[in-house]
Amino acid sequence: MSIQNNHSNSVSVRVPATSANLGPGFDSIGMAVDLWNEVTVARGPFDITIEGDGADKLPRDETNLVVAGTRAAYRARSAQFPELKFHCVNGIPFARGLGSSSAAIVSGILAGFALQDDDHIDQHEVMALAAELEGHPDNVAPAIFGGCQIGVKAGDDWITSAIPLPDDLHAVILIPDFVGETSEARGVLGAEVTRADAVFNIGRSALLANSFATGRLDLLKHATEDRLHQPQRAGIYKGMNTIIKAALTGGAYGAFLSGAGPSIMAFASEREYTVAYEMTEAARLHGIDATTRVVRPTTKGAHVFDQSNDGDI
Ligand code: HSE
Repeated sequence: MSIQNNHSNSVSVRVPATSANLGPGFDSIGMAVDLWNEVTVARGPFDITIEGDGADKLPRDETNLVVAGTRAAYRARSAQFPELKFHCVNGIPFARGLGSSSAAIVSGILAGFALQDDDHIDQHEVMALAAELEGHPDNVAPAIFGGCQIGVKAGDDWITSAIPLPDDLHAVILIPDFVGETSEARGVLGAEVTRADAVFNIGRSALLANSFATGRLDLLKHATEDRLHQPQRAGIYKGMNTIIKAALTGGAYGAFLSGAGPSIMAFASEREYTVAYEMTEAARLHGIDATTRVVRPTTKGAHVFDQSNDGDI
């Protein structure tokens, strides 16, 4: 990534929402979609202002993940962390399984490097720092690189590889009006899996990649099935299985819990609004108030942009 950094006293970055797991790719596969957070970091007395999603819940102190990300970028250069003020405009639904934490971390790291006048930010370095902070790569990799990414840890390295996506792919997202706690959603997972369940997910993860790469969207019905986390999480997300079935009935190719939930995502290419309707109705029958969004994947990942003319750098 090349950055002409003419504004080292202030930098603005955009980072997309991401959906992790996509069914079987637990902690490994994720996709960036066209919903964005914007963060501006400027030199000045410490301050955090937040607009948009989660503004009433996010911390305004050093525990804010944007600040943690920026600090990590300075630590990576063994540089002293300066006084900085942060302004966040959040378009990514907060704590709904759409990568809001990863987006915060990535935006902070990217802004931190840009403020240090790095004119060639190494996306792999951003990924390594972000994945270490997050613990797994399935949100941070697509947040940084865009598209659909397979992320793995190999020794101390984090590796990512893009899966090409068909042009006509849309994602329908049902976003419940309550937040999810990732720690709770990870806490219900057992430490061990059976060989049969491992085989179930290995085959489907590979099938998922091949479905996208070859445009065989009809394969997504099975390629988005999972046994490693969704059955366990159905206990905390009442209605999840019914909503997934309703999406398929409405004409979705496949549907799954987005990340650690509570959002549910469905892939469609023609019947997006019918799918959205069926999902909303199924949620309503379970007493869940929710909004739906129909979005496209984005092949563009996190980037610096010029606040003064809104142009990407
Ligand atoms: N893969 C992660 C999970 C994503 O499902 O718990 C949320 O951080």
